Amino acid sequence: MKDTLILSFESSCDETSVAVIKNGHEVISNIVLTQMDTHATYGGVVPEIASRMHIENITIVIDEALNKAGITMDDIDAIAVTYGPGLIGSLLIGLQAAKTLSFIYDKPLVPVHHIAGHIYANNLEKGMEFPLMALVVSGGHTELVYMKEDYDFNVIGSTLDDAVGEAYDKVARVLELTYPGGPKVDKLAHIGTNSYELPLPLDDDSYNFSFSGIKSAVINLKHNEEQKGNEIIKENLACSFQSRVVEILTKKTMKALDDYNCKNLIIAGGVSANSGIRDEFTKLCNEQGINLTIPKLEYCTDNAAMIGAAGYYAYKLGRRADLDLNAKANIELS
Ligand code: KG4
Ligand code: ZN
Repeated sequence: MKDTLILSFESSCDETSVAVIKNGHEVISNIVLTQMDTHATYGGVVPEIASRMHIENITIVIDEALNKAGITMDDIDAIAVTYGPGLIGSLLIGLQAAKTLSFIYDKPLVPVHHIAGHIYANNLEKGMEFPLMALVVSGGHTELVYMKEDYDFNVIGSTLDDAVGEAYDKVARVLELTYPGGPKVDKLAHIGTNSYELPLPLDDDSYNFSFSGIKSAVINLKHNEEQKGNEIIKENLACSFQSRVVEILTKKTMKALDDYNCKNLIIAGGVSANSGIRDEFTKLCNEQGINLTIPKLEYCTDNAAMIGAAGYYAYKLGRRADLDLNAKANIELS
């Protein structure tokens, strides 16, 4: 069978990324230009700056992705692009580049939801087996998604307030760590002990999550200790926070797997890089005979390879967009 090459684009936040993906699972090239250091100065992503930097970088990244793959636009079968959710000014740059190339070279344009991309990052590891449960943990999303087959997304639970990555970044700020704080909290947690009492967030029978309460509990605990003249032990607070987060994520996910009689679990999104989450899920899935897949670290955070993997299945299913495809800051996955 003839190979299918997808040229894919991701620019929903602060990474400008273009990739070439073969048959939905083989990464031929994946160029990621991160703006993280620039935004770190401001303590978070500044949308206007992100958008301008995408403009400066996008053509360089396209050229590099094609050069590294050793192909030209003539070899490409389709163009896949993240059209949402994300920062509107950032999304527009990748989208405009993808639409322009689609028009000039007469290639089909395939719209991809950012979270579908995170889920399909797992297809770059090994073929996804269905039915599966996907735990999506990123800076903007925390969701449990049940999939009976390719591209059939059934969101069975989601966060009622903050996403887990957002909570990590806010706790990092309380601990005076620089942006992006998630990986730094993770590192500190590793050397600390679980010594602070924090609530288990939204410990109920639903598949929903809530992380604003535990975030506030961390802030209050720090203020109270400071008022008593006590120094907070940062690594212990990081460890106590991470332990509770991992506890609720594993509790609800393992319950969902059980309720749906599902034996395949994948973890997706930037927070799937978290070592506490990776270790605990690996242990539990081994014990309970669950087939677990977590992306390689480089495919956990935003990248175009994952968009190309999802885009391949969307393309095969006949999903197409016209040149009037617009960027959307918020769109549902289901
Ligand atoms: O998926 P992603 O790259 O962007 C969104 O689509 O949101 O996720 C970024 C989020 C940030 O909140 C970042 O702090 C968090 O993922 N993150 C982590 C770790 N690595 C990235 N959070 C906890 N532990 C990590 N090791
Ligand atoms: Zn993301």
